[in-house]
Amino acid sequence: MISAHNLKKVYRMGLVEVHALNGVSLDIRTGEFIGIMGSSGSGKSTLLHMLGLLDDPTEGEIMIGGQDVLEFSDSRKGRFRLNNFGFIFQDYALVPELTAIENVILPSIARGTALPDAYAAGCEYLDHVELYERRDHLPAELSGGEQQRVAIARALVNSPDVLFADEPCANLDSENSRVVLDLFRQINRDFSQTVIMVSHEDWHKEYFNRVIRLRDGKIEREETIRHDG
Ligand SMILES: Nc1ncnc2c1ncn2[C@@H]1O[C@H](COP(=O)(O)OP(=O)(O)OP(=O)(O)O)[C@@H](O)[C@H]1O
Ligand SMILES: [Mg+2]
Repeated sequence: MISAHNLKKVYRMGLVEVHALNGVSLDIRTGEFIGIMGSSGSGKSTLLHMLGLLDDPTEGEIMIGGQDVLEFSDSRKGRFRLNNFGFIFQDYALVPELTAIENVILPSIARGTALPDAYAAGCEYLDHVELYERRDHLPAELSGGEQQRVAIARALVNSPDVLFADEPCANLDSENSRVVLDLFRQINRDFSQTVIMVSHEDWHKEYFNRVIRLRDGKIEREETIRHDG
C-alpha cells in the first residue's frame, strides 16, 4: 500500500515559483492498476516522481508498506527503488552507449544478479515487447517507439512490486500499445504487481482499475472502472 498525504511540490526557478502539486492525497493498494490522467502541465509526471521517490515533495508525507519513506537517506531511497520499483520515463532515459539488451539488464546488474541470469531475463522481456531480434542495437539505431519498448523491458526486468510508467505508449501505434498494455495487465494479474501509469488516451481506461484525474496539481476526480466479464 502506498499512502500519500497532502503532497505539494513547488519548483523555484529564480523568482518564479511553479506549484506543480497543490495538496494531493491518495491511497494505492497493492495490485491496483492505476491510470493518472489530466492535461499537459497538470502535475502527472511530478506526482509519479514523488511517489517513486525520485524527488522529494516540498511538503507532505508518503508511507509505503507502513514506512515513512521520505525519512530515508538518499542511499536508502536508492536501494528501496532498486528493490521495489521499475520506472518508464517520459523521455525513455536509455544509455546511448549501451545496446538494447545492455540497457535492459542494467537494473538487474545493479541489484547484483549474475550476468547469465540477468541476460536471460533481459532477453525474455525484450521478447515480450517484440524486440529480441534488435537486442544488439544501440538506441540511436532504433526508432522512437522501439526505444520506448526497450525502456519498458528495462523497467520490468527486476519484476518490480510497483511499476511507474510515464506515458509508456506515447510513441506507439495502437497495435504496439496493446502489446504493452496486455503485458502490464499480465504482470498485474499474475503477480499482483502494482501499475501506476500516466496516460492521455481514453481507451487505455479499459485496462485501469481506477483513474486519478489531475488538474492544476490537484485531484479533480477519481473514477473506479468496472470491467465486465
Ligand atoms: N524541474 C522543473 N522545474 C520547474 N518547473 C517544472 C519542473 N518540472 C515540472 N515543472 C512544472 O510543473 C508543472 C507540472 O509538470 P509535469 O511535468 O508534472 O506535468 P505533466 O502533467 O506531466 O505534463 P505532460 O502531460 O506535458 O507531461 C508544469 O507547469 C511544469 O512546467
Ligand atoms: Mg509528464
